[in-house]
Amino acid sequence: MQAYHKLSAKAFGDDFLWGVAISAQQNEGAYNLYGRGLSIWDTFARRQGKIKGAAKPYVNCDFYHRYKDDLLLAKALGFNTFRFSISWSRILPDGIGKANKEGIAFYNKVIDECLKLDLVPFVTLYHWDLPQALEKEGGWTSYRMLKWFTRFTTVCAEEFGDRVKHWIVLNEPMGFTSLGYMLGKHAPGKIGLSNFLPAVHNAVLCQAEGGRILRDLVPHAHIGTSFSCSEIVPYSDKPEDVQAAKRMDILMNRLLIEPALGRGYPQDDFKFLEKLELHNKAWKYKERMTFNFDFIGLQNYFPLVIKYNGIIPIVQASEVKASTRKVPYTAMGWEVNGESFYRLIKRFWLYGSVKEIIISESGAAFKDEVVNGEINDVQRIAYFQEYLSALQKAKQEGVNVKGYLAWTLTDNFEWAEGFKARFGLVHTDTNTQLRTIKNSGYWFRDFLQK
Ligand code: BGC
Repeated sequence: MQAYHKLSAKAFGDDFLWGVAISAQQNEGAYNLYGRGLSIWDTFARRQGKIKGAAKPYVNCDFYHRYKDDLLLAKALGFNTFRFSISWSRILPDGIGKANKEGIAFYNKVIDECLKLDLVPFVTLYHWDLPQALEKEGGWTSYRMLKWFTRFTTVCAEEFGDRVKHWIVLNEPMGFTSLGYMLGKHAPGKIGLSNFLPAVHNAVLCQAEGGRILRDLVPHAHIGTSFSCSEIVPYSDKPEDVQAAKRMDILMNRLLIEPALGRGYPQDDFKFLEKLELHNKAWKYKERMTFNFDFIGLQNYFPLVIKYNGIIPIVQASEVKASTRKVPYTAMGWEVNGESFYRLIKRFWLYGSVKEIIISESGAAFKDEVVNGEINDVQRIAYFQEYLSALQKAKQEGVNVKGYLAWTLTDNFEWAEGFKARFGLVHTDTNTQLRTIKNSGYWFRDFLQK
């Protein structure tokens, strides 16, 4: 990316939220301790061949026992904000019903420790770890999700709302509905449209309802929800590639946000989505899909080049991989492209009804090597420089961006990739739990100090 501006943390303003983000399932460990119920990921990991290296998300970074050290690390690297999620099955082991006092006490300790260190606690309600007890009842495909999610959100708002002001209702609903309920690659491993469509609809309802509950119960709350997003580029200007890219764009970028903004599902541009309208009519919930969020969280990891592929059902499109296109890419095979990140931010801002944007995750996995106790992850440093320059440019052009939360603090459990993909600013030795700050972590510290 061209250096349009001299990258400077100061240029983002004094009230800018600079943070790191983690999630309960990926970091906490202590999966069967202190009254926690099982999550869909704990059980999914037992199925053969689902997770690389047969990795189990049971200890991870042991954040449950090491949260004080990890918060100190975030502080030492110069951040002022700490994003983490609440494990639903730690708070409500059966998904509903009786709350687990020890679970609530744990998050109280994390929140209080953040406040003690002057780190803004930024809480995600749901980051993909549904209680297994609810999955048995249908999980995200069940119309009862709304009731279950209401209970979970209410407990969190009542217990933590006196100190937590910043909330993300759902983490990337497109991620967990498509990977978990359409493609079967993530927990709970379900496939097909009959699972995907109700899961999408229930997520859309829960994201808006979660916003309403927080608004009612938490004074002065700053409420958002997060969306995964990717610039979609047609492989050629042939009409079939252009149309394929358009369909993919609807799925990846529009399907979950537009109902929240009051626009309903983007079905005019993709007739197949009329099926979602059936769910709507059945439950008469159209107006309940909308909520006036204070901000939206954007999470962009890669652009996609898309071409027509008639074999793929419904969307009839497939990706042209970055590795075949002579572009830089990460260890996940994801293209690095700061310009594309910039265009995407501008595009979401153009909705007009978005009041504020927070980049609630951004980061990259590379093959980090420890050499004489040092990890010189130059590619990750270059990545952050490029993406932050793009963000600075968007902000200087008038986009109301108020925060950037790097993914992630410590290398953690990367879902179906197990422990091989490392996104951290801090290296985690999964055997000893030794943390080693990577040079990208030091780079952030210096950048934020200037
Ligand atoms: C998710 C994170 C994940 C990251 C990198 C995001 O989609 O919210 O949980 O680790 O991407 O894959």
